[in-house]
Amino acid sequence: MTDWKKTDWRRKPRVQMPDYTDAAALAAVEAQLATYPPLVFAGEARRLKAQLADVSRGAAFLLQGGDCAESFKDFRADHIRDTFKVMLQMAMVLTYGAKVPVVKVGRMAGQFAKPRSAPTETANGVELPSYRGDIVNGFEFTEAARVPDPARMLQGYTQAAATLNLLRAFSTGGFADIHRVHQWTLGFTDAEDAERYRDMANRISDAIDFMNAAGLNGESNHELATVDFYTSHEALLLEYEEALTRLDSTSGKWLAGSGHMLWIGDRTRQPDGAHVEFARGVQNPIGLKCGPSMTTGHLKALMAALNPDNEPGRLTLIARFGAGTVAEHLPRLIRAATEEGANVVWSCDPMHGNTIKSATGYKTRPFDSVLREVQEFFAVHNAEGSIPGGVHFEMTGSDVTECTGGVRAVTDEDLSSRYHTACDPRLNASQSLELAFLVAEELTARRDRMRDVASA
Ligand code: PEP
Ligand code: CO
Repeated sequence: MTDWKKTDWRRKPRVQMPDYTDAAALAAVEAQLATYPPLVFAGEARRLKAQLADVSRGAAFLLQGGDCAESFKDFRADHIRDTFKVMLQMAMVLTYGAKVPVVKVGRMAGQFAKPRSAPTETANGVELPSYRGDIVNGFEFTEAARVPDPARMLQGYTQAAATLNLLRAFSTGGFADIHRVHQWTLGFTDAEDAERYRDMANRISDAIDFMNAAGLNGESNHELATVDFYTSHEALLLEYEEALTRLDSTSGKWLAGSGHMLWIGDRTRQPDGAHVEFARGVQNPIGLKCGPSMTTGHLKALMAALNPDNEPGRLTLIARFGAGTVAEHLPRLIRAATEEGANVVWSCDPMHGNTIKSATGYKTRPFDSVLREVQEFFAVHNAEGSIPGGVHFEMTGSDVTECTGGVRAVTDEDLSSRYHTACDPRLNASQSLELAFLVAEELTARRDRMRDVASA
């Protein structure tokens, strides 16, 4: 993209971004960040894009998940490890059902900036600017904390770098070795899904033992001993994104160096807006949230802007409508994409359309609604003859009580006991694994359908 400059977004209308009051402090931070090394490399982003191209053809499945918002306060190795571990378990369950590789992408190492539904919040008669994520301002409900502080971008960068370093170590340093499939079980001993997981792990171990005995793979087989794990976040804070954008000398193309995959939120996807302008010029795989207000006209304009060459793996459309409304919105968008002959990945975010206020006053999501939206997503793709390619969850490896339901039913009354999220409610480890088993059933059906189509 020769006519594109990483600063061009500055001339477009912007929404959901902070108004920094100290321009000199902001400029100093941007200048400093621009000298820092990128966090990811172009070859990695291209590899992810190639794997997402497989997803778009139904030859792989995408699992994207992590915190709604990473927090500076909860930055701990065990938190990163536990979320990574649950994602490996879920991927194993999904691979087992789908019999295709699962592409693993964390909402991690940069998922700090948040769009908000209102610019201010009121509590006890006091109105303050909304919290916009730790990379922008503080969660604490005080006037001082809510002032956007550009120096937070430097802390965000440092935390992202350390998180990615740990994820790289977990991915390739032995932790993710499939021979350890049993050791990934977390402490959920009483749950039915832990039992199912152990059953499946036994069968996987048996298969590995068989292959070893038959001389089909060595203990040191690289494919079994390591995993590819990618990072992603919403590219919301464009000053941060611009400062980490670099020219990739091998391809001559721009790369957003802040994460492997970036997505555009449902509130910032204006075709002529700043966020689309930024994303269109970088070569990373791009996600696009598609909510109920997206028209076929918007989608066509966005596909033309973000993927003019119709490159498979470049664009992932992340549907987030809410249980009960998928059949109303998704078909028109699938048909618009099909009409254009667009190569896209269709993914389902069953979180953001299913947020409610519990009777006890907490923002929550019922497990049943989350599951129902996923099932509706698969059903619509089945009816349209298109490919359901992935899922996008807000989840954590920790034993939180933020979403209600699941086999170890979290009730409205339980929400107060371990409600730790800085933003939206997340599925806990047990709920995440349970959901993976239910998605695996859908994927087994997908595999049968694809086989029928291929042999017809
Ligand atoms: C999110 O993914 O945290 C988010 C804010 O999503 P959406 O843009 O779909 O509302
Ligand atoms: Co969220």
